[in-house]
Amino acid sequence: NVLYIKNSKPRPVSETVEGQFSIIGELKNIFKKSLIKSYPNFNIKMVISSPSKSGDYQCNSAMGLSKILKESGTKVSPAEVAKTLIKNIPANSIIEPLSTGDHGFINITLSQKFVVSQIASMFLEGVRPPKVDKKRVVIDFSSPNIAKEMHVGHLRSTIIGDSLARLLEYLGHDVVRLNHVGDWGTQFGMLLAHLNDKYPDYLNNPLPIGDLQAFYKESKKRFDEDAEFKKRAYAAVVELQAHNPDQTKRWQLICDTSRKEFQKIYDRLDIKLTERGESFYQDSMTKIIEDLKQKNLLVYEEGRYVMFPQKENLNPLTVVKSHGGYTYDTSDIAALCHRLEVEKADWIIYVTDLGQSSHFESLFDCMERAGYIDKNRVRIDHVGFGVVLGENKKRLKTRSGDTIRLVDLLDEGIKKSLDKLIKKNRERILSPEELEQAKTSVAYGCIKYADLSNNRKGDYVFSFDKMLADEGNTAVYILYQYTRAKSIARLANVEPNQLLNYAKNEDIKIEHPNEIKLAKEILKFHDVIQKITEDLVLHPLCEYLHKIATAFSEFYDSCYCVEKDRKTGEVIKVYMHRLLLCEVTANILAKGFDILGIKPVNRM
Ligand code: ARG
Repeated sequence: NVLYIKNSKPRPVSETVEGQFSIIGELKNIFKKSLIKSYPNFNIKMVISSPSKSGDYQCNSAMGLSKILKESGTKVSPAEVAKTLIKNIPANSIIEPLSTGDHGFINITLSQKFVVSQIASMFLEGVRPPKVDKKRVVIDFSSPNIAKEMHVGHLRSTIIGDSLARLLEYLGHDVVRLNHVGDWGTQFGMLLAHLNDKYPDYLNNPLPIGDLQAFYKESKKRFDEDAEFKKRAYAAVVELQAHNPDQTKRWQLICDTSRKEFQKIYDRLDIKLTERGESFYQDSMTKIIEDLKQKNLLVYEEGRYVMFPQKENLNPLTVVKSHGGYTYDTSDIAALCHRLEVEKADWIIYVTDLGQSSHFESLFDCMERAGYIDKNRVRIDHVGFGVVLGENKKRLKTRSGDTIRLVDLLDEGIKKSLDKLIKKNRERILSPEELEQAKTSVAYGCIKYADLSNNRKGDYVFSFDKMLADEGNTAVYILYQYTRAKSIARLANVEPNQLLNYAKNEDIKIEHPNEIKLAKEILKFHDVIQKITEDLVLHPLCEYLHKIATAFSEFYDSCYCVEKDRKTGEVIKVYMHRLLLCEVTANILAKGFDILGIKPVNRM
């Protein structure tokens, strides 16, 4: 059972794909062609699944087809349908001769030639993204609120949003990453009034607010307890919204202080974002409200203007509040208009907790009702996620019940990651710089991976012990397998050029069961990418990387890449095809890390 290729590139059957591609997609094409030839009058979806017990993939359509044929008066058993389908499969170099199993399931095994050619291509050309229609994508993520501490919910939005943005960038889309910060609204009234009382000299002295959260709490307390203060707070908002220069300066100072705090988190996690907060849309809101009024879409209710969605069970949006102020809903209407008209987005994604699902449902529905969204032209997604729980399965909080400061959380991650490396005596082997890099890579990598490897729709338990475990579906395990894959070529003294020439010119043989298993696992990459792009979830990519790491580890344990003389340590024999597999494994893991926003290291 030798995989073999010489100077010939297997070509996909359909003309639309070339190079590296989704295998399930291509198998569907192959079976579709057979269907057209076998049963030209029956146009059904071809179902391909993986994995199956025998073979690498399976076509599950014969049974359904047999039913449909029966309904139209032709009695053919699933097994016979399968036989006909097999007979009419177009010539191709992708699959081995086919066989049927029970109930007409068709077992598919990838051709040896094809597997090797894909591995060689992934080495020579890198891991290429599938071809897509380039879209302009606006992704709204992170989006914390000014003067409040960024909490773990915002951390989830930041990690998931950044990873989705990286995925879409990798696919070649034109991605705009927007931070829709909460920098407007009534809470500013109390902040402005409090700032004025507490630091009257704020213009000449740099803002002394060290702890914005405490400042927020102080203002809130006064707001709740002091009626006179409350009045001034309301007045301050009105002045701010009317662009009063003093209030604007105060507002700016508060925003800057917050911004600096947020930026520290973004820098540590390597997150790129363009800030465009709620205030940005202030001036366009009035115009949009006029338009909505003209279209007769606003209803005056208890002093407020609201807009009802078309679907009955959705909540109305509050567009104008009783004292004339605008709301979170209003700024989201204006932001969506801006993204459609000015940004010319064809795809808009919002990443927030699932608690906001109904807000977004109402928003999208109302915007369609107003004729602002053309559903045939734009795709809009609310990417919702569950709550972060502590190890006690309750919302993650500090012991005293406060929200956890993200800086503290990251610091704790760094400390725990270093402890772990030292416990394994790594500081004796690694240089101080290497130890430093390993520490950050592991700490931030494990925090991101723990979040992304859980289905985002569920709640997830935040546990440093679990995320720093050496075994299982963790960043640490995969990062470690990556360093092993990377080190092999180094230890074999093989120059990159030698391997390049080998991959280009030699017959490549992949024979050992663990080599074949690893290679075939690697080939699922494009299917995984397709799935996660459709569903906007990242856990299947994590599962895939974990499977690769496991298959690699099994391969590594059972297949020598280099044979050395026991006594002298001299290299006697190098298995080039295995080095090639190591390199491609490292490439694929690196690509996965890149999409997840994780920075691997060469030694840890
Ligand atoms: N600032 C909001 C929050 O903290 C999230 C904003 C999300 N984006 C949006 N366009 N509504 O909950």
